[in-house]
Amino acid sequence: MNILLLGGGGREHALAWKLAQSQLLADGGRLFAAPGNPGIARHAALVTLDVGDHAAVTSFCAAGHIGLVVIGPEAPLVDGLADSLRAAGVAVFGPSGAAAQLEGSKGFTKDLCARHDIPTAGYVRVESADAALAALDRFTAPYVLKADGLAAGKGVVIAENRTDAETAIADMFSAAGATLVIEEFMHGEEASLFAITDGTHILPFGSAQDHKRVGDGDIGPNTGGMGAYSPARVLTPALQAEAMEAIVRPTVVAMAAEGMPYSGVLYAGLMLTEHGPKLVEYNCRFGDPECQVLMLRLRGDLGEYLLACAEGRLAAMPPPDFAPDPALTVVLAARGYPDVPEKGGAIDGLDAAEATGAQVFHAGTALDDAGALVAAGGRVLNVTASGATVREAQAAAYRAVEAVDFPSGFCRRDIGWREVAREDA
Ligand code: AMP
Ligand code: GLY
Repeated sequence: MNILLLGGGGREHALAWKLAQSQLLADGGRLFAAPGNPGIARHAALVTLDVGDHAAVTSFCAAGHIGLVVIGPEAPLVDGLADSLRAAGVAVFGPSGAAAQLEGSKGFTKDLCARHDIPTAGYVRVESADAALAALDRFTAPYVLKADGLAAGKGVVIAENRTDAETAIADMFSAAGATLVIEEFMHGEEASLFAITDGTHILPFGSAQDHKRVGDGDIGPNTGGMGAYSPARVLTPALQAEAMEAIVRPTVVAMAAEGMPYSGVLYAGLMLTEHGPKLVEYNCRFGDPECQVLMLRLRGDLGEYLLACAEGRLAAMPPPDFAPDPALTVVLAARGYPDVPEKGGAIDGLDAAEATGAQVFHAGTALDDAGALVAAGGRVLNVTASGATVREAQAAAYRAVEAVDFPSGFCRRDIGWREVAREDA
């Protein structure tokens, strides 16, 4: 069958790389991607499609005999693209607009957790600056303030003291119609758990640990993620089972019961507290760059799993097989990220990097007028490798990073540090 993959980041390059190996394409089927990127173009035919124009996407699917659409990023999901495709009879991997509220609205998710006793931080939801200031009395520092709505990871402020919290509240309410969630601060280590579901059946689909801050040692501003490794061993099998039973399963059951069945991948950001795993947030898509390390480890046929979710047949699928060896990815970002990344920086050496055995996934890359590869986004490349230990995977990834020639780029030098320290201990 033909498959259409939507998106053009490092996550989608990893998905394209894996989908290109799927038996679903064995009948002469083709993989299309929109918008894709120069790395994705190695595995898929790139097409121009406006994902905001649902009619255009559905007619492309009809004309191109697309048997499966895989939606990578959150924005088209929250915008209801999966609903439009399903209404047109197209199989799609990704939740409906209603179900994507799990990522699209922090308030929606907190209220759902409260209704169904799903462990998460205590919270209040406020609609005005005055209400927010009054609500601060019910919390202690550090204060966790979250704007409702999609914010590409930038809608969260952790204020160390009351004055900073008051300033942040004033800022957040300078936008008209804002809604704010104020949360209890949870202590612990974070881990990401992925589960795929068709709305009824659920399969755990790997774990990872992200590195959100821009600088070594987890300092500086938050980013979309500067690197990741998988599995997150801190999420032990027992803790993973607890998170599946106490958090993920009740969420999938609640969404179905409330008339918004969730199908697709559910990404649970967890805090491993002394009272067990608690939900930090849900995302309605694979993590970026967590997907890159999951795909490096996945031995099964990604396409078969995604199609089974789309067609409600997940019960018939065996648990996915992930290689036990850890995988680690280092994000090469353009100078200036996450504020104003420098565009157009030259990139070379990717063949040499891959000759070391690593996979280099493209995120924000483009070809310039002369056909040379250049930086075209904040996060530009994801240099991904595996090894017998996280330390070995880390060494392999950084060896490949050394082979990349990207003078206007930078990366963190300590991806995987928590797990490496545990391995060394
Ligand atoms: P979110 O966008 O909700 O994932 O928040 C971004 C980051 O802020 C998370 O990855 C955590 O590092 C941190 N964070 C969010 N909520 C809390 C909380 N209630 N307690 C402690 N840290 C939090
Ligand atoms: N890397 C974090 C995210 O995908 O949300």
